[in-house]
Amino acid sequence: MDSGLLPKSLVFFTLFLFITTTINAASANDPSQPILRPLGKEKVTRLRFYWHDVVSGKNPTSITIVPGPSVNSTTGFGSVQMIDNPLTEGPELTSKQVGRCQGIYASASQQDLGLLMSMNLVFTEGRYNGSTLSIIGRNSALHKVREMPVVGGSGDFRMARGFALLRTHWLDMNTGDATVQYDVVVVHQ
Ligand SMILES: *[C@@H]1O[C@H](CO)[C@@H](O)[C@H](O)[C@H]1NC(C)=O
Ligand SMILES: *[C@@H]1O[C@H](CO)[C@@H](O)[C@H](O)[C@H]1NC(C)=O
Repeated sequence: MDSGLLPKSLVFFTLFLFITTTINAASANDPSQPILRPLGKEKVTRLRFYWHDVVSGKNPTSITIVPGPSVNSTTGFGSVQMIDNPLTEGPELTSKQVGRCQGIYASASQQDLGLLMSMNLVFTEGRYNGSTLSIIGRNSALHKVREMPVVGGSGDFRMARGFALLRTHWLDMNTGDATVQYDVVVVHQ
């Protein structure tokens, strides 16, 4: 064994430590140069909230921007809805608002009810105030439980990935108003 090996590698190791510590110190308070946690050391966050699709009344938060072109379609194929739906802590629309869900959902299936949903969840309360999560996925809205991918996030949810499980909590068949429970699990920085 080369007797010079140990001291030499110690010097490199110390130098390496010094450089990484300096970089970390420089970027600790700079949000544009975040310290990234290594894979496997990221945070896991679970969220539950309620999504309200208010299509009726004087102040709808969900409006049809393109009606389905075919009057005979049972799936509404081709229709497009723009939403700015409230997210609340509890299932009642009057319970504490924790964010908004802004985006589009469109009927993308000719055979059954299958929605293409493309939405940003914008949180407005507590530690997640200002942070967002992006969802894009297929929602088989008539199924008991639907799963959609969470494909990204910002703020506290930087580099997020995960999934959302949707369960219809309440549906008014006459107006189309609906409340859906969202259970979200995300891994993020
Ligand atoms: C809708 O269905 C009816 C009855 O089957 C048919 O007569 C009509 O042509 C269809 N309309 C369209 C736009 O496809
Ligand atoms: C959320 O952040 C906005 C913008 O920074 C601020 O105006 C608002 O008061 C915050 N809301 C809460 C509940 O902290």
